[in-house]
Amino acid sequence: MTTKSQDALAASNTAGESIAPLVAALSLEDKVRLLTGQTAWRLYAMPQIGLRSLAISDGPVGVRGTGEIPGATSLLMPSPSGLAATWNLDAARRAGTMFATEARRLGVDIVLAPQVNIQRTPIGGRHFECYSEDPYLTTQIAAAAVSAMQEAGVAACVKHYVANDSENYRTEYTSRVPEQALREIYMAPFEHLVTDVGVWSVMAAYNGADAGDEAAPMTEHGHLNNDVLKGEWGFDGVVLSDWMATNTTVESANGGLDLVMPGPGGPWEDNLLEAVRRGDVDESVIDDKVARILLLAERTGGFGDAIPAPSRPDDAEFLRKLAAEATVVLRRGKDYVVDAADVASIALIGPNAVNAYVLGGGSSTVHPHYVVSPTSGLTEAFPNADITLLRGGSALVHTPPADLTRDATDPVTGEAGIAVTELNTAGEIVSALVNPTWSGWHSDPSADCTDVVLETNLALRESGEHRIDVGVVGAHRIFIDGTLVSESHVEVDANVILDSSANSPIGSGLTITIDEPRTVRVRVELKTVNAGGYGRWVRADFRHARPGPSIEDEIVEAVEAARNADLTVLVVGTNSEVESEGWDRVSLALPGRQDELVRRVLEVAPDAIVVVNAGAPVLLPWLNEAKTVLWSWFPGQECGNAVADVITGKTEPAGRLPWTLPSSESDVPIMNTAPDADMVLHYPEGVHVGYREWERTEKTPAAPFGHGLGWTDFDYGTEASARVADDGTVTVTLSVTNTGSREGAEVVQAYVEAPSPSPAGIERPIRWLGGFERISIGSGETSTVSVRLPRRTFEVWDTASHAWVLPEGEYAIALGRSVRDLRTRTLINLPSHGGTAPAVREKPREASAPSQTAPSA
Ligand code: BGC
Repeated sequence: MTTKSQDALAASNTAGESIAPLVAALSLEDKVRLLTGQTAWRLYAMPQIGLRSLAISDGPVGVRGTGEIPGATSLLMPSPSGLAATWNLDAARRAGTMFATEARRLGVDIVLAPQVNIQRTPIGGRHFECYSEDPYLTTQIAAAAVSAMQEAGVAACVKHYVANDSENYRTEYTSRVPEQALREIYMAPFEHLVTDVGVWSVMAAYNGADAGDEAAPMTEHGHLNNDVLKGEWGFDGVVLSDWMATNTTVESANGGLDLVMPGPGGPWEDNLLEAVRRGDVDESVIDDKVARILLLAERTGGFGDAIPAPSRPDDAEFLRKLAAEATVVLRRGKDYVVDAADVASIALIGPNAVNAYVLGGGSSTVHPHYVVSPTSGLTEAFPNADITLLRGGSALVHTPPADLTRDATDPVTGEAGIAVTELNTAGEIVSALVNPTWSGWHSDPSADCTDVVLETNLALRESGEHRIDVGVVGAHRIFIDGTLVSESHVEVDANVILDSSANSPIGSGLTITIDEPRTVRVRVELKTVNAGGYGRWVRADFRHARPGPSIEDEIVEAVEAARNADLTVLVVGTNSEVESEGWDRVSLALPGRQDELVRRVLEVAPDAIVVVNAGAPVLLPWLNEAKTVLWSWFPGQECGNAVADVITGKTEPAGRLPWTLPSSESDVPIMNTAPDADMVLHYPEGVHVGYREWERTEKTPAAPFGHGLGWTDFDYGTEASARVADDGTVTVTLSVTNTGSREGAEVVQAYVEAPSPSPAGIERPIRWLGGFERISIGSGETSTVSVRLPRRTFEVWDTASHAWVLPEGEYAIALGRSVRDLRTRTLINLPSHGGTAPAVREKPREASAPSQTAPSA
């Protein structure tokens, strides 16, 4: 018996001439073995056919590597939404090339990036990893990055297919997305990357999707994987599972998944072999998966020896410029560019001035070669200025990390560090060592180790109140000076990685007040955590708050410094406790008392420049009180240099928001990501996602989609012309003048408004981004700008025929600087045929059934 999915598979026929004999040369056992990872980051080698082990690494803020090179560090880019904020496809291409070089340097063949899920809600924990709330901008940036990466022979793995747009219950929910929105918003980037760019791998998401006629986990969604992705779109690459996402054998094997990650273990291996022998999974289905993996290997140079590693690319200048160009000027005062010669003193204030948050939390984490702090950046840019750095109060909830290199010693030998003792089930010592550079993790303990004891004497030097905490995961006991401060018998598993709770574990401890310096003995007993594909380990963060000023004292001190400085730079933002994969935020407020800090500083230093260091939207209740406000994203390794380059005008902050900045939570279209009792996550807004919903409700955001002032001004010509090419592409042309005193880059945005009324049953947004063009224009100069709007922009997914249609009529194209700053309009009449192209050009959804052909135009 063949299923609809298998028919679609056969239709996509991936096995090329050179691949088929290789598949045939493998035994069934070897073929099935190849379909589960050998490790968390590697596939099996098959030396009999010359296949080496392919290596995988996470993205999308850099390439972390496989963990096999001790101490490996990486280039750290601005967060993906920062890249999207440039609206600069050349920069996205360059980023793609950088990913490829980094991948090869670290011995990697497949990079798990980019992430093209849509920023459906600002509370989404992975918002910073996505590009935009708009599918077109997402698609364009991703396409440039993927094509450059793959031209260099490294596979992109575009993720997470599909409707994986929030983190609450992320492995459990099923997204029920209306069909039109699923196609036009959530699947659109994947479709383009498959059909137009030819991406080599796709990651099946943790969540399920309810696509109307089939609701299933994405690792086994026959319709979306086999019929649409591989059938209708003709995807010839590998569908690999998100890490530990696969829960079935037969359903996932027949449902379009090609590769279970990570390995070893998981639901395939011997179970799949038996399923094939039983006849529940056809061997041709296995062959197709193997062929796809071998094709991927061929594309990435996986036959033969490992590819020699290039030397570390010198991309510092590029990353510096990128982070500065991505910066969005939300507001600006009169004299916005600061002349370093005029500044003798700088008050640099804020929790994020002290500890900039340069990358968000979760699997995208890389270990950067270095990070330029705001202090270093400003010191270099303002050589004559005295810089006073003040935190203005902590914005963290957890006790800060202990200074272990300075304060921790082995209680027995007095050596610096944490004593680590592995025990077996009988409580006997398996191994013992002192770790002088405790990272918070003890990984891969000896095979018979079931428990680990960590001990240290922590030096308390200053008199006053000290707080000591240990953040742990799973079953444990924590003793401080012999007092049991926390105990749990609850053992945990890989879920603590999936929900990121292991990254920032909750701490327990004691407050100790001292008059004289002394040490405290900290003893932590931990059960090893068996996290499946994420390995075995124990986790403990040692934390220590010393006696010090209160938050109020710190704010007062910061205000005084601002009052006396020539220039005040405030850096506020989120931190690792706030923005991360694994959870959605519960509030859009800046953590701690940062809003109060900004307001009190602005009272005495109204010209202060406020830099917001966050990935996803936060509320800025003081926005209209500040003269200059910059949004600097998670800027990556060049953080401080980029901030300095923007302030001094060395680089134009040309960023434009790829999402809407709300001014209150009650205005936000989607603030709740909780699935219902049946674990269904509803998408009632349909196609009205992000700014489209703001346009529908006519609420006023703090800053609209597309907004960004830069350091100069532009005028738009009053007239624009539009023409349609034979393939349905519309090109709109107008003139734009830089009326400011500096050269600058403008992003001309073209928003489409559909003919009114819409054909019956077809819901369309009020307006949507149809195209954009970024152009640099010298001061006082006028340029002619052409914006290309692809035919698909005008098409709509018709849920009656399950096909793309082009409603005929008069479309308006509004050109402007943001969705709320539209300057020039033009009209264009589109016939339903759209030039010579047929009105319906996609295959219908039953891709495998020959009797159902696309309706002709
Ligand atoms: C994330 C993926 C990531 C994978 C491997 C998962 O938890 O959802 O985006 O690539 O882990 O780290």
